[in-house]
Amino acid sequence: MDLYSDGSKSKKPPLPAIRRRFCSTTMVTMLLFVLTNTTSILLSSGAGAFLLRRYKPATVRLWAWDDSAALLDDLNATQSSLAVTRSQLADLHSRLAVANSLLHTLLATMSRRRHDVFPEVEHACVRFREEMVAYMNYTAGGECPSDEALVHRLVVNGCDPLPRRRCRTRSTPTTTTEKWRRDDDGAMSYSVDGVLAARPNGTVRVGLDIGGGGAFAARMRDRGVTVVPVHVGPARRLPFFDGTLDVVRWATAPETPIAGVAGEMEIELTLFDVYRVLRPGGLLWLDHFIVVSGERTFVPMIDRVGFKRVRWNSGKKKMVSALLEKPMA
Ligand SMILES: *[C@@H]1O[C@H](CO)[C@@H](O)[C@H](O)[C@H]1NC(C)=O
Ligand SMILES: *[C@@H]1O[C@H](CO)[C@@H](O)[C@H](O)[C@H]1NC(C)=O
Ligand SMILES: *[C@@H]1O[C@H](CO)[C@@H](O)[C@H](O)[C@H]1NC(C)=O
Repeated sequence: MDLYSDGSKSKKPPLPAIRRRFCSTTMVTMLLFVLTNTTSILLSSGAGAFLLRRYKPATVRLWAWDDSAALLDDLNATQSSLAVTRSQLADLHSRLAVANSLLHTLLATMSRRRHDVFPEVEHACVRFREEMVAYMNYTAGGECPSDEALVHRLVVNGCDPLPRRRCRTRSTPTTTTEKWRRDDDGAMSYSVDGVLAARPNGTVRVGLDIGGGGAFAARMRDRGVTVVPVHVGPARRLPFFDGTLDVVRWATAPETPIAGVAGEMEIELTLFDVYRVLRPGGLLWLDHFIVVSGERTFVPMIDRVGFKRVRWNSGKKKMVSALLEKPMA
């Protein structure tokens, strides 16, 4: 039954007219909806701007629904413009990636630079991954590998302190086989007795050998002086209390090329640290010491730290032997 047929039969509403109007309104709404959506899609994809640029007002024409060739043309144009936009986007992405990687490189370089000047303890180990893997490759509970050269390389390059290992070192360290000179040649090679003569008898009792092996310590033991060889990197603070030592020997050539690795700043920092651990009147013996920056800057550095020069000999290849004293007062 018709809905509108209820009620009096004398008043018949014009049904077909209303329905026709209703249908056409729906069509128009739908069409507008489709158009609006298409427009917004075109605009957001960037193709809209392209189309506007392509079609100047004079060439704008209305499409007839049967003009499929024109429509195809236009679709083709839209398609190609979309392709262009896509390739521009890809280009932008790749440029962004390049900028990103440049930034990463820059940051890495900056942090590396900073560590060259102020090497942080242990941080330098990051730069020696392969060596660290080799160093930590050992049998736990067994005998340690013979890798003194590897250990030395890591330490003098600032990878210090090294991690400890659960293995036994060989009972006879190779360092005790080192030769040690007996006579003072009056030039670069000082003898143990020549150095000890600079202090009153019996006042030199305990000392340090930076980067040295066991040979110097053995010769000093013959004279009743206890010398501890220390193996520390150029950035390391000496692990001793202030004013506790009578003598410090520091050799950089030929057995320990620390100065070849450390820069001027590391040498100055180490000199200040040696000054700290020496007692007043204590001696610093620079034994065949390579002065990287040359004597013209090294002598003022010695004075700046506060050492008194007791003996000084210049050799070839920027090498110096010297006996320096930390003043009494
Ligand atoms: C679409 O455009 C390209 C060049 O932009 C043309 O080579 C191709 O034939 C065109 N396709 C149609 C169907 O018009
Ligand atoms: C560890 O050392 C052993 C024996 O020296 C060697 O065969 C092995 O390749 C080493 N492994 C690594 C990862 O270096
Ligand atoms: C220092 O002591 C030793 C013995 O310990 C002695 O032979 C030597 O003559 C002494 N030197 C001086 C300058 O007193």
